[in-house]
Amino acid sequence: EEKDAVETAPLCPHRAHTAASRAHSAHSLDAIPGPTNWPLVGSLVELLRKGGLTRQHEALVDYHKKFGKIFRMKLGSFESVHIGAPCLLEALYRKEGSYPQRLEIKPWKAYRDLRDEAYGLLILEGKDWQRVRSAFQQKLMKPTEVVKLDKKINQVLVDFVGRIKNINKNGKIEDLYFELNKWSFETICLVLYDKRFGLLQEKVNEEAMNFITAVKTMMSTFGMMMVTPVELHRSLNTKTWQDHTAAWDRIFSTAKVYIDKKIKRNANRAPDDLIGDILHHSCLSKKELYAAITELQIGGVETTANSMLWAIFNLSRNPGAQRKLLEEIRAVVPPDQDPCGEHIKSMPYLKACLKESMRLSPSVPFTSRTLDKDTVLGDYAIPKGTVLMINSHALGSNEEYFDDTKQFKPERWLRETSTINPFAYVPFGIGKRMCIGRRLAELQLQLAMCWLVRDFEIVATDTEPLDVIHSGLLVPNRELPVAFIRR
Ligand code: HEM
Repeated sequence: EEKDAVETAPLCPHRAHTAASRAHSAHSLDAIPGPTNWPLVGSLVELLRKGGLTRQHEALVDYHKKFGKIFRMKLGSFESVHIGAPCLLEALYRKEGSYPQRLEIKPWKAYRDLRDEAYGLLILEGKDWQRVRSAFQQKLMKPTEVVKLDKKINQVLVDFVGRIKNINKNGKIEDLYFELNKWSFETICLVLYDKRFGLLQEKVNEEAMNFITAVKTMMSTFGMMMVTPVELHRSLNTKTWQDHTAAWDRIFSTAKVYIDKKIKRNANRAPDDLIGDILHHSCLSKKELYAAITELQIGGVETTANSMLWAIFNLSRNPGAQRKLLEEIRAVVPPDQDPCGEHIKSMPYLKACLKESMRLSPSVPFTSRTLDKDTVLGDYAIPKGTVLMINSHALGSNEEYFDDTKQFKPERWLRETSTINPFAYVPFGIGKRMCIGRRLAELQLQLAMCWLVRDFEIVATDTEPLDVIHSGLLVPNRELPVAFIRR
């Protein structure tokens, strides 16, 4: 079975004897370098001058260049320590406790508390997080289980490829990102609820549209309440709070209907699919299942669509790699067969293309950890409660860890004697709390790349650089300059 590179990484040889001596010679948090720290605003003004929050990923890369592997930054009253070096990630990974924590998403918790709903994996903490995580982990993270989802994934891909053929105007697809979001939404719903919503049909039904709009509204209203107190929004009943709550109401009521239907079907006959099996065997309450499954859906839609968008872009700009990929697809998948999970196993170049695309253009630029104990990282003793930002975007674009960082070179992942540090590639996060949908997302993306590249030549329609902005995920600031030409 394919193991995560990080799990099998040999222990850094220098670590063992330096760790003990470091613990008492380590510097304090205050000694960590960082950008200007003005009273009240911290580095906010400087960050705004560097292009604002939508350019924060670039500012953070600059800061790593200027201050090195680790720096400290304050935005308003929010302080965080940024780590952008494999050795520090490795130290964090080796010292991780049983229940790693991310930064709290207070607006989501406020909604659940209001409606007496449970928390899912994105916001749970401690033993409860571990209990829910282990209910899903076994099935969702096991390649031999996930590969069985290929038929469902393909069912949606048939419609997706059909749609790309239908709405194609001289190769151009209007609002490709929305089409990709509908594709990943449809796929994840089929996997989780066993239900087709028909999002890729010409006329999308109202229920499906309401569901997708609700997720969009929920996502676009919570950012504001991450930077201003959610209690205030709630007590003043602001428009943001009202919209956010109404959106969650719709998401939960729709999800519940389909989860209940699935549970009912399972009661009549033995479950024969991944989620059915989890529902059947887990000892989670119904309330916990509703929240856990809903959050799987929330975590899985735009991330996957966004990664596919970047893969399409990178293939369009690298016709040589695309040609090689097509050759591999043609060599492995007979023309009268659909690409399936079994084929993917013998497609190293495909896997390398996806990895390289996620290195060069990660969807989620960083994740976070709130330290639950005092921890020595590198030369610093960092106190419990500190928020660490793990910057996979800065890692992937650092020449120290990847040569020719700006070039799309799938071959770098296939070298016999690879020198890539496994801790330098973390687009799905790291450790016990890493993305639980990783295997599913990878299979979805790999199959989608097979279907698309087999049927279309993906060509670049201009050669201008593509500006990237941060809006939770990293997105292009204009319509993707690509065309899909039928082969
Ligand atoms: C967590 C990325 C697809 C569900 C995460 C994290 C990242 C991430 C960076 C944070 C991990 C950490 O803090 O170490 C991505 C990317 C995806 C993707 C880039 C697509 C290419 C999915 C899918 C699902 C999903 C398909 C659902 C099936 C989740 C959940 C968590 C998570 C539930 C929280 C896990 C926990 O805290 O236990 N993802 N994800 N993700 N993701 Fe994904």
